[in-house]
Amino acid sequence: MILSFEQKREIQFRETFSTGIARKMLNPSNTQMKAMLDYMRMVEECSSTKDKQDTHEEKDKLKTGDTFGMASIHQTREFEWLTNEIEAFVFEYLEASKIKYDKLSLFHQKSWPIITKTGGHVNNHNHPNAILSAVFYLQTEPESGGELIFHNPNDSLIPGNINDKLPGLPSTHLYGLKPKPKLLVLFPSKLDHHVENYRGEMSRWSVSYDISITANHSLGSGQSENMVVHPSLWREFRGTKDTSTETAKKIYFTQNQAITTQETITNTPCSDYERFDTDGYLVKEKVIQPPVCQAVFGQILESWKQGTFDYIHRADMRIHTPLELSETTTWVMKNILKEYLPVLNTFLPEHKMRYLVEFSSICVFPGAKAQELHPDQNHQYRKLVTIFVNLFEVGEQCGALIVVPQTHKNQSKQIKDSQKQVINKPQKMILPPGSSVLMDSRLVHAGTENTTMNSIRPVFYFSFGEIDIEGPTYSILPDYRQKYTLDDFVDNASLKTRSLVTVE
Ligand SMILES: [Fe+2]
Ligand SMILES: [Fe+2]
Repeated sequence: MILSFEQKREIQFRETFSTGIARKMLNPSNTQMKAMLDYMRMVEECSSTKDKQDTHEEKDKLKTGDTFGMASIHQTREFEWLTNEIEAFVFEYLEASKIKYDKLSLFHQKSWPIITKTGGHVNNHNHPNAILSAVFYLQTEPESGGELIFHNPNDSLIPGNINDKLPGLPSTHLYGLKPKPKLLVLFPSKLDHHVENYRGEMSRWSVSYDISITANHSLGSGQSENMVVHPSLWREFRGTKDTSTETAKKIYFTQNQAITTQETITNTPCSDYERFDTDGYLVKEKVIQPPVCQAVFGQILESWKQGTFDYIHRADMRIHTPLELSETTTWVMKNILKEYLPVLNTFLPEHKMRYLVEFSSICVFPGAKAQELHPDQNHQYRKLVTIFVNLFEVGEQCGALIVVPQTHKNQSKQIKDSQKQVINKPQKMILPPGSSVLMDSRLVHAGTENTTMNSIRPVFYFSFGEIDIEGPTYSILPDYRQKYTLDDFVDNASLKTRSLVTVE
């Protein structure tokens, strides 16, 4: 006889409220996979060197990038493919959850590599800084532990009592996933989880992404009740930090070490955006090939015939001529933008910040005097960046650009200090042909003197930013003013959704 609920005498439990943990096998090409594996190899080598002195065994078995300064792999070229795949998967996840995301903005907030060696494990934790978290496995030995175990979010009755769990739900107390290469897992960041002991001989390589979700910028701050408003509407506290001599010295030496050699610049596994945000500029070598440099220089020579010179700062022996958006210059700009796009997208998140405001050239001739150190604009919260492309080799004497690292923030004090050369030593951009420098317009910089007899320094440059900032003089042909944005020169290929493949 079947008893109804009312007739039953014993206590009854009902399993309710499921949670969404999604999985998918990705299919990277050999090249994409190799790029990611090479990166992880470099991380493992770097982190081993760093900790060589460290005899603490436990620490050696687990290395997570968010604890040793590597937590923006979403800004790297090596992980660009994966970052796009994760975006597509997040959109699928939201659609499957019937969450409308047209009024939301999504961000890759943090992403970091994890190296686990035999005996390594991760204790129970969650990611309170994010909404969704993803894990992608790159390398792991089969049947060697290291399972990702999720805890039932509802199974604790008494907060803080670790031995406690709600009665009646033994089957859903824990849920585990076996790691395998190319498996992507996405889950709510607030879910408690841990990683079981790993027993493989080969290092287990995985990466984690933390994704933040806020109200869309278009909602402003007045239509997003109970949601975090878009970060572009936030304002950081303007109080200045202690810049005592000791601190200043430390910054000075760290900075010098960080950019002493070009090799350090290209090999440091710190993200481009972190470097740009810290220093106010970012150097990329070999963004275009010498024949293309020659072609652009040919167009500069043509522009001189037109006689449409712009004069910016000290004009003597420096010629600024705005350039035409020809097939060559447009192609060059598009290709260079690919190099800087992750940085630009992070730094210029809003449409109004992405206008093409300059498209021009400068040529520094023998006899040119040095410019005064200056920022291109003084408004701390306005956005403007310039990309300079060196068409010839830039030697010591031919009028190279100098920049004063880290002077783009807390500017009024920094300008004063940098002019006295107290905080950071100016860095001279001695670079090969086809190299480029991305510069925050708030950064203190100058063109140096050209003391050579016969070397010129031709540079192609373009700027993106807000159109109504007081101060900067924009060099651009009148027809192009306020007409184009960064997005007109970028191929928009990502964010395609794909059907969800279930993995058992
Ligand atoms: Fe985690
Ligand atoms: Fe300038």
